[in-house]
Amino acid sequence: MTVSDSLVNHSSTAPHKCDLLIENISLATMQGYSEGIPALPEAEAYGRIEQGVLAVTDGRISWLGAAVDAPAFEAQQCVDGQGGWLTPGLIDCHTHLIYGGSRAREFEWRLQGISYEEIACKGGGIVSTVTATRAASEDELFASGLKRLKRLMAEGVTTVEIKSGYGLDTETELRMLKVAGRLAEHTGLTVKRTFLGAHAVPVEYKEDPDAYLDIVINEMLPQVAEQKLADAVDVFCEGIGFSPAQTRRLFEAAVKHGLPVKGHVEQLSDLKGAVLAAEFNALSVDHLEYLAEEDLPVLKQAGTVAVMLPGAFYCLKETKLPPIKGLFEHQIPVAVSTDLNPGTSPIASLLLAMNQSCVLFGLTPEQALAGTTCHGAKALGLEDRKGMLQVGYDADLLLWSIDHPSELSYGINMHRPAKIWLAGCEVQ
Ligand code: NIG
Ligand code: FE
Repeated sequence: MTVSDSLVNHSSTAPHKCDLLIENISLATMQGYSEGIPALPEAEAYGRIEQGVLAVTDGRISWLGAAVDAPAFEAQQCVDGQGGWLTPGLIDCHTHLIYGGSRAREFEWRLQGISYEEIACKGGGIVSTVTATRAASEDELFASGLKRLKRLMAEGVTTVEIKSGYGLDTETELRMLKVAGRLAEHTGLTVKRTFLGAHAVPVEYKEDPDAYLDIVINEMLPQVAEQKLADAVDVFCEGIGFSPAQTRRLFEAAVKHGLPVKGHVEQLSDLKGAVLAAEFNALSVDHLEYLAEEDLPVLKQAGTVAVMLPGAFYCLKETKLPPIKGLFEHQIPVAVSTDLNPGTSPIASLLLAMNQSCVLFGLTPEQALAGTTCHGAKALGLEDRKGMLQVGYDADLLLWSIDHPSELSYGINMHRPAKIWLAGCEVQ
């Protein structure tokens, strides 16, 4: 950080000492969204503050507001935002970005009309990535994962969730989670790790899925918990994944180990996985194309976040829409994420996912930005630290040269942050 002493006098009270002062900006604070999306007048949408100032001290936001209300600052460094917008760092709350191999061939099959489920039944799909991931070394997984993560970072992702789930044996599942930890250390991003041993039944257990689940519960999960390799436990609750009864067993085991749960549910059919997850106070339920309207009150009651993954919807040419209107009517927090994975969403762009959430699912750009900031944070249990511009919150910040925050969802490959700060330190 360059140190240039600066004193900006706005009043006669004692100066507010800070490490970084960003001036001449509009702020999209995203404050006030804890109960879904409030119907705010245009002047207040995005929790906006025009002609604002934001100060950072020790990696956290120490002051923010309109310049006219600001105290005098004594700042180590001043940045002129040149009239741009400052937003919280983006949060991609659902990714599978560590994997071996490629599924481009499968893409060709799908274009010929073979369904995702048919491909999975033929040994393609998740299981084919498992073969490639098992064969990859830790360093290879790190290198390919880093490439994808850098793509997300370039667009302003400062917090990311990364799942295991392409190992489906103890050694490879643990390896994936260790690689996720190395990616966090290497990049300085906040990485939340999710154990997804119950992503698919590996071929060697095809005839006895319960025996595989026993291994997930009795062998993998205890090691993951003991070595503190994950922050949550996930499952693919689906006809081609795990049944609700199996999901319940897994969730009960997760709770015993003190780990919160989340679930891939209602992606291809309605197995009532969301209701089950809500019973366990899941952090989030993800996909939800087949979620029934009648199940919405239960999600609201549990405080569970609904994660929209429009990239998978798009790539699978799905036609059944999640119950978007109902989610917002029930004031359920709705997050938006890439689902970055080699099969159903090879999309390393959270801004594109925001655009897709608007075009395909009908979210407003404001809802899309809330989905990748405050609601994405809640899906990871980080709502007290991230996803908002608020005093005390981590200073993960993005400066954009845009006229209005709706531009982030509107354009495709149009914008990159002009500056990115992680905990108040500028990323070069
Ligand atoms: O989120 N639904 C299951 N898991 C991934 C797909 C993973 C794959 O096909 O490799 C998803 O869409
Ligand atoms: Fe997924």
